[in-house]
Amino acid sequence: MLDIKITKIETPKAKPTGALGFGKYFTDHMFMMDFDEGIGWHDARIIPYGPIPMSPASSALHYGAEIFEGMKAYLTKEGKVQLFRPYENAKRLNSSAERLCLPELPVEDFVEAVTTLVNLDRDWVPTEPGTSLYVRPFMIGDDHSLGVHGVHHAIFMVILSPVGSYYKEGLNPVSILIERDDVRVAGKGGTGYTKCGGNYAASTRAGKKAELKGYSQVLWLDAVERKYIEEVGSMNVMFKINGEVVTPALVGSILPGITRKSCIQILQEEGIPVSERRITVDELLKALEDGTLEEAWGTGTAAVISPIGKFVVDGKEFVVNNGEIGKVSQHLYDEITGIQSGKIKDTRDWTL
Ligand code: COI
Repeated sequence: MLDIKITKIETPKAKPTGALGFGKYFTDHMFMMDFDEGIGWHDARIIPYGPIPMSPASSALHYGAEIFEGMKAYLTKEGKVQLFRPYENAKRLNSSAERLCLPELPVEDFVEAVTTLVNLDRDWVPTEPGTSLYVRPFMIGDDHSLGVHGVHHAIFMVILSPVGSYYKEGLNPVSILIERDDVRVAGKGGTGYTKCGGNYAASTRAGKKAELKGYSQVLWLDAVERKYIEEVGSMNVMFKINGEVVTPALVGSILPGITRKSCIQILQEEGIPVSERRITVDELLKALEDGTLEEAWGTGTAAVISPIGKFVVDGKEFVVNNGEIGKVSQHLYDEITGIQSGKIKDTRDWTL
C-alpha cells in the first residue's frame, strides 16, 4: 500500500460553468510520486494542482520519455465515484513503460493513486448527461542528462479534468479523411501499441490537415505498405460489413484499446460475429461502393464511441449509413456509458 501524504489546497477553485469541452479544466489536486533507480517508487503525495519544477535537461523534454493513460470516473446514484476497468489501464501503462525503458509500477499502486485522488476531488465529477471526470495518469522520464539511454529517475502523476464530449459533434457522426501520406510512428517493433506521447505528437500534422479541409480526423493506414487500416484519429476503428463487425487485429502497431476490448466482448456475448483481422483500405472502399458497409465507428476512452458518417479518399466522398448514427454504434455507446455511470448493472466485474 502506498503511504500517500495529502496536502490540501487552501482555497478550492471555482468549478467551471457551461460547456466543459475536453481537457480544458483541472481539479484542485494532483497525485505525484518519484522513482529512483536503486530506491524504487517513493514519496507518494497528493498536492494542489499546479506547475511542476523541471530541469531543462529532463529526458522527457528532449527525448519524449513520456507515457500516459486515459480513464473516466462517474458519480453513481449511490454516491460512489466509479472507475471503469482501472486494472486494464494499469497493465497497459506497464506495457508502455517496458517499451520506453521507464520503470513499471505495481498495478495496485496505480489503482490506489487514482482512487485516492478521484475520491478527494469527488466534488469535481460532473453529473450532466454526457459528462464525466477524465483521469489522466502519466509517467515521465526525468533524468537530468542528455545521453540517450533508459531512465533512472521518473515521475508518475495523475491529473483530473471534468469533461464533456471529445468531439464537438458529440455522438453525431464525424467525417474522416483517409490519410495516404503521413503514418502514425507505428511500424511493427515500434511504439504503436503503447500510449506514448510521441505517437500522438506525430499524428497532429495529418489531423490538422483533415480539420483544415473540414473533416474531423484521419483514418490511418499501416506504415509499411500503406494498405492496411490501423486506427482512426486517436481511436481504434470498427466496421460492420455484411452483418459482421470487423476491426484491425492487434499486430503490434495498433493500440490495444480497453474500449475496443469491451466492445468486442459485448458484441460476442450478444451473438454478433466479430472478426479481428487485417483489413485493407481497398476492402473498405469496395464495401463503401457496393453498399455492404453498414456502419463504421471509432472506439476510445475519450469519445467512447464515435460514429463515422463519411469517408473521404482521394477527393471522393462516401456517406456511411446515410450519415446517421448506426444501431450498433448507439447500442455500444449506451451499454458502455451505462455501465461506466452505474445506470446499467455491471455483470462482468468491470467497475471499481
Ligand atoms: C482515447 O480516447 O483513448 C485517447 O487516447 C484520446 C486521448 C489521446 C485524448
